[in-house]
Amino acid sequence: MGTADENRHLEELDRKYIWHPFTQMKDWLEEKPVIISEGRDCFLKDIYGNWYLDGVSSLWVNIHGHRKEEIDDAVKQQLDRIAHSTMLGLSSVPAIQLAERLVKLVEQSPPHPPLTKGGQEGGSDHPLPPSKVFYSDNGSTAVEVALKMAFQYWIHKGIGGKVSFLSLKNGYHGDTLGAVSVGGIDIFHRTYEPFLFKTYKAPSPYCYRCELHRTYPDCAFACLNAMEEILKENSERIAAVIIEPLVQAAGGMIVAPPGYLKGVRELCTKYDVLMIADEVATGFGRTGIMFACEHEGVVPNIICLSKGITGGYLPLAATMATEEIYKAFLGEFKDLKTFFHGHSYTGNPLGCAAALACLDIFEKEKTLEGLGPKIGMLEAFLKDIAELGHVGDVRNKGLIAGIELVKDKSTKEPYPWEEKMGWRVAYYAREHGVFIRPLGNVVVVMPPLSISLENLEQLLKVIREGIKSVTE
Ligand SMILES: Cc1ncc(COP(=O)(O)O)c(C=O)c1O
Repeated sequence: MGTADENRHLEELDRKYIWHPFTQMKDWLEEKPVIISEGRDCFLKDIYGNWYLDGVSSLWVNIHGHRKEEIDDAVKQQLDRIAHSTMLGLSSVPAIQLAERLVKLVEQSPPHPPLTKGGQEGGSDHPLPPSKVFYSDNGSTAVEVALKMAFQYWIHKGIGGKVSFLSLKNGYHGDTLGAVSVGGIDIFHRTYEPFLFKTYKAPSPYCYRCELHRTYPDCAFACLNAMEEILKENSERIAAVIIEPLVQAAGGMIVAPPGYLKGVRELCTKYDVLMIADEVATGFGRTGIMFACEHEGVVPNIICLSKGITGGYLPLAATMATEEIYKAFLGEFKDLKTFFHGHSYTGNPLGCAAALACLDIFEKEKTLEGLGPKIGMLEAFLKDIAELGHVGDVRNKGLIAGIELVKDKSTKEPYPWEEKMGWRVAYYAREHGVFIRPLGNVVVVMPPLSISLENLEQLLKVIREGIKSVTE
């Protein structure tokens, strides 16, 4: 903590030099910035000494809390060996160790059909789990890698024309241009439309505002039928379906109804397109188990991981592909079957060391086994808050929740987004020691998995009061 003058100076420097992401800087310049200087467990401390409960896990990344001793130590020990060396032409000890751990984790997680003879990819509905790890350094690059891999895979298989993707409305896969092309959030993506590649868009499984005007379960998955129609017509032009399994996170924590994800897997198999599961937000326990795909026993051909992979410590990502995809890239040097992709900080050793420590904690502390009472508390809270006059819908899976505020509950009329209702709740929360960040009119709850029941109760109490104070 600095002196009052030093702190004011920092605020001035921030305003003078920093351009913040996803932020209208005109608004930012008018506000007092919260400048974080320290963290501990589920709390963040600003330069003035105020503590905030980190209600969105520092943008969905933190898993075991801040300053977790085991992760701190692992990073320090790695720092004593080497901070970074390239993966282009070299390998590194923690990158190898982590790759093995990730493959074992993915292998053991979903129930998948037995291997067929000769190690061919298994049963009719499932490939074998991804077993090769391609590192990068954030969620968007994990997705870029997946898209390029899927596209090039079909070329190597000698099947031409699969030059597009099928993605979902309300989907979000990151901010690089490939990821934006397969995104489906108008407000974020519309501006860039002229330089995006075209993709096929299937309806979002957004039951509260079903674009097909159907009601679950009577709809019998009309949204999947719509996806099937696209695939029936166009599968020879589609390399892969890319999906956020179970929860369309940035789209507003939209939780797909049970059976939807499995249905997507079945369609991918039926129409011979790859399935890319973007588990960047849902991976590493957020939905109550390690990976969201496990809830429905789904095995994708490609998985994208990032965010929680390092426990929220360092930028790292992994795109995992099946043996079948990997093998398609093997060939003579002159055949140019190489996967032409790689980033400077790919597989950074500090990040890999943090990730290994993060996985150790999952085992040692039985993190997933301990989530039950927290999820129970969150569910009870949501049930209760759903009764409020301006709460239109509540959605959750595991320790992820979205509370959609509406102007008129009976007609589902949304608040005009310019009214910043979600933000007003977030500002209220900040005044009361809680940091949350909304998605439009959706109040997001996504605390670190390590949050105590007491702190979770505090978080939910402030959110409830915030919603009441802003909407009533
Ligand atoms: C599902 C999903 N994919 C990809 C990304 C992009 O990750 P990053 O912000 O690390 O590029 C996000 C980020 O929120 C995400 O939620």
